[in-house]
Amino acid sequence: MTKKTLLAVALAIASCPVLAAETRDDLQPSGRFSVYGHGAAATPPMGWNPWNAFRTEVTQDKILSVAETIKKNGLQAAGYRYINIDDGWWLHRRADGGIQIRTSMFPMAKTASGPPSFRRWTEHLHAMGFKAGIYTDVGRNACSQAHDPKSPNLPVGTTAEREIGLSGFEYSDLRTVFEEWGFDYVKVDACGLADFAAGSASVTSGRYGESRPLIVRGDAVATDADKVETMYARVGRLLSQVNPDGDYVFSICPWGEAAVRDWGGRHGNLWRTSEDIVPTWKSMLHNFDSTSRRELYAGPGRWNDPDMLAIGLGEFDADHLVEARTHFSLWSIVSAPLLIGFDLNHAAPALVELLSNKEVIAVNQDAAGNQGRLVADDGQVQVLVKPLSVRGERAVVLVNRGDTPAEGVVDARQMRLKDGALQVRDLWAQRDLPATQGALRFPLPPRASVMLKVKGEPASGDATALGEITGRIHVAVDGLPIYSAKPAEVSGTPRVDATPYGKPLQVAGQAYAGGIGAHANSRLEVLTSKAFRRFSAVAGLDDSGDAANGNVVFKVYGDGKPLYESAPLRRGAKAVRIDVPVSGVQVLELVAVAGDTGKDALPPLVAWADAQLH
Ligand code: GLA
Repeated sequence: MTKKTLLAVALAIASCPVLAAETRDDLQPSGRFSVYGHGAAATPPMGWNPWNAFRTEVTQDKILSVAETIKKNGLQAAGYRYINIDDGWWLHRRADGGIQIRTSMFPMAKTASGPPSFRRWTEHLHAMGFKAGIYTDVGRNACSQAHDPKSPNLPVGTTAEREIGLSGFEYSDLRTVFEEWGFDYVKVDACGLADFAAGSASVTSGRYGESRPLIVRGDAVATDADKVETMYARVGRLLSQVNPDGDYVFSICPWGEAAVRDWGGRHGNLWRTSEDIVPTWKSMLHNFDSTSRRELYAGPGRWNDPDMLAIGLGEFDADHLVEARTHFSLWSIVSAPLLIGFDLNHAAPALVELLSNKEVIAVNQDAAGNQGRLVADDGQVQVLVKPLSVRGERAVVLVNRGDTPAEGVVDARQMRLKDGALQVRDLWAQRDLPATQGALRFPLPPRASVMLKVKGEPASGDATALGEITGRIHVAVDGLPIYSAKPAEVSGTPRVDATPYGKPLQVAGQAYAGGIGAHANSRLEVLTSKAFRRFSAVAGLDDSGDAANGNVVFKVYGDGKPLYESAPLRRGAKAVRIDVPVSGVQVLELVAVAGDTGKDALPPLVAWADAQLH
């Protein structure tokens, strides 16, 4: 290089922070819809898991009798297909590297010669019309080993023999589970990465080896999210390899830790967004809240998982049908997996009826895979709206979270419908309500909810607002630096029709009712599948951001090729109008690149207001 070129390069680097930011690899267009794309979870998985009913004191007979009940009482026909095994099934790791099944728990696993096998178990379930699920851990040990020290069914033997988790055995264990044993679903927990630190009770007991925790619960800085992601990504890749027919589900279970919101959808089919549910109203709402603001993360093949249903237990048992109905409405509208977790052999008919409500299940299983999103929240009453696959159809839940009576209200605008006649059906009563104009109002007793299907004329006419097709959007980069990310339940991630903090979108003093709000340094992929001609939006820095907080360049790509690039914009600058042709485009990408953000500051807030496909 000549001196002159060297100088030119140095000057360019020094004077152009936007260019420097462009070098961030993850903000370059991927040219693809980079979600997991494997497995069989086009709609949220439905089934039954024994954990909350039996913990490790589960047996083959207990599971089978519940499976038979599910077949007889209509729940199987209603869609509950997966019969899963959770923690407790293992006896020890053998010297040959295989895992010995606890045959006292699963006599069916005994074989005439050779090690026990679950093959007969899965064949039996398959013959009954079910799919079979199993459980493991991404680390060396499982959750019961740390949290249920009194369990009669913990792995036995030397420290090495007690290491029944995947770590170090990923390929051979997954091959055994899927190729030899014939399972269709695996839940991969993470206690092995979290609960075996030096000095922990599990280690000082002398029964388990020590490992530096990669997950420190509630501490994003001490947690090594990158390593955790790498380990789960490897499991995801191996699963697609040992399941050439793709008929499997990969459930990722780090309880909302390790920034799993950011990578769960790239490596698996569902990921837990919070700690374990317990059957109390408070816990149910807490877990719901960990999912309800993540509408842009879910879609066909990838689902936020606020944990199993607590229906049938504690504050959701047959004496609490109001609470049980609300719990089911909420899980259904946010497209959560529907895994029942109580002993159905002792279920009150009213609970079975509740869990088999076809119209409510149809909302959860709608093919578009949009997650319902919060359109109103006054601290007591929340309203969620989920655009369904039929044009102009919306599912709506109005819920009273409080212990005093309240009123739920939803209007056409919140449902993205035109004012005018609306057809309304009450999904719990399974009856049509008189056609209405204007806002819909319902008295809501404490903890009660109303669930509706509403049909009208879409407000966006022939265009499609991005907020109506969240199932086709993948948050490839959400703009939050991993190590300053707060626990999962705190928002701050991209949202529909709101800033990441739930405020209305506003650019240079002008309010926008619709669009996507995000932090800059974000990249959104939209699966347009050659179905649209144009993309339009009004983009700018959101007014609720920090005034001093740098500039942003807005870029739009179609299948990796640049379609639009704005000048660097600062807060207060008028929004730019974007209108670009997208005919033939499979994947559209919306990228906001922050220029001179300070090292530790969060990137500024941006709005892709009125973002629409035509
Ligand atoms: C963790 C999981 C639960 C359950 C138990 C089993 O706590 O989050 O869902 O699988 O482990 O020990």
